[in-house]
Amino acid sequence: MGRLISIVSGKGGTGKTTTTANLAIALGKYGQKVCAVDADLTMANLSLVMGLDDVDVTIHDVLAGEAKIDDSIYTTEYENVHVIPAAVDWEHVIKADPRNLPNVIKPLKNRFDFVLIDCPAGLQMDAMSAMLSGEEALIVTNPEISCITDSMKVGIVLKKAGLAILGFVLNRYGRSENDIPPEAAEEVMEIPLLAVIPEDSAIREATLEGVPVVVYKPKSEGAKAFMELAERIMRIAGYKARVMY
Ligand SMILES: Nc1ncnc2c1ncn2[C@@H]1O[C@H](COP(=O)(O)OP(=O)(O)O)[C@@H](O)[C@H]1O
Ligand SMILES: [Mg+2]
Repeated sequence: MGRLISIVSGKGGTGKTTTTANLAIALGKYGQKVCAVDADLTMANLSLVMGLDDVDVTIHDVLAGEAKIDDSIYTTEYENVHVIPAAVDWEHVIKADPRNLPNVIKPLKNRFDFVLIDCPAGLQMDAMSAMLSGEEALIVTNPEISCITDSMKVGIVLKKAGLAILGFVLNRYGRSENDIPPEAAEEVMEIPLLAVIPEDSAIREATLEGVPVVVYKPKSEGAKAFMELAERIMRIAGYKARVMY
């Protein structure tokens, strides 16, 4: 049985899609069979970040009842990594019912070691449906107080809903002198800090190239931090598996 991990945040733009893409490839490099799902139905960009073009069937078609899930799963050039992309045009968005996300995503648990769900930010219905498709949550936040408090709100709601909160990623650390230090962030969040990802121009360049940084510049600080995050998550997954089931 695989693990279903929702990648979540309070605010938008914290680095969820970047984390999903890099974590997927990093886990793949460690030999894990991974499926990264774009569940951000209105602001989809996972396939762009992962360099997947020419997709035909997307998760929107599956949610609209017009395609089978198998037709929306694409292999990638990255070892062991599969992607379920989302459509970017409004015609597809209005046809797809976000409430079907858990029904569509949960069965993937039997087929992959890790299913990573790239969720929309916040607590609106779309975001809730995406987040509740997972059994565990990984929170991505930035070192600013409003971002951290919004992340906490999401964490509290998901915990109440029965998800196991794996911990959080402090992303874009070092962008400002006023950044909240990792230790202080962990104290406020009251959940484990799993990785500090530095502000790294290689990550932005990688996004523009459509090649996630763990492949684009594997020696960069950002790439190393994502590889460590993957290792950490593999270790926790074993522990959580015993606690949860
Ligand atoms: N650690 C980082 N250093 C530099 N740029 C980053 C970092 N993390 C994310 N970014 C950039 O920030 C932007 C938003 O990231 P993204 O992953 O799309 O956020 P979200 O999915 O949470 O909205 C992207 O352009 C991405 O390249
Ligand atoms: Mg995103």
